[in-house]
Amino acid sequence: MAQLSECIYLSRSLIAPHSVDLLDIGRAALRNNPQHGISGCLYVDSTFFAQLLEGPLPTLHRLLAILRRDRRHVGMLILRERPLTQRRFEHWSMKIIDGTAAGVSPHLSALPDALREAEAGDATRLLRQLDAFATACAGN
Ligand SMILES: Cc1cc2nc3c(=O)[nH]c(=O)nc-3n(C[C@H](O)[C@H](O)[C@H](O)COP(=O)(O)O)c2cc1C
Repeated sequence: MAQLSECIYLSRSLIAPHSVDLLDIGRAALRNNPQHGISGCLYVDSTFFAQLLEGPLPTLHRLLAILRRDRRHVGMLILRERPLTQRRFEHWSMKIIDGTAAGVSPHLSALPDALREAEAGDATRLLRQLDAFATACAGN
């Protein structure tokens, strides 16, 4: 069986956070992710996307190739790819994290700054925050 893996990337969004475009992305994830064994979350604000994907490695690579061609975002930067023993978003094809909502989860409060740092080359803070969030979501 293919290795269960986790991949995290960030990209620059070219769509509005509360738009039909975002609904379409959510619908595509609902349609496709479960049948391919993919779960995860998508952080979205008016500037960035950050997506954490879990699934079999070859399937993740296929999805990433599709995502690279998607014109709703640019500048995809892979921040992590690693083997996983256990999913943290088992029950989510795509848990949307609305970064524009006031008082987002305390785990994510510094995320906008962390995203800028990650884009500039230091993803430490972003990955730590996403890990804290994912751990808080695990099993839910
Ligand atoms: C930031 C972002 C995240 C996306 N995440 C997913 C995803 O998790 N699963 C998915 O199937 N499509 C996702 N998409 C959409 C794909 O790029 C593509 O449009 C979609 O998979 C096409 O699905 P279809 O062949 O069923 O029409 C995402 C797009 C963007 C811009």
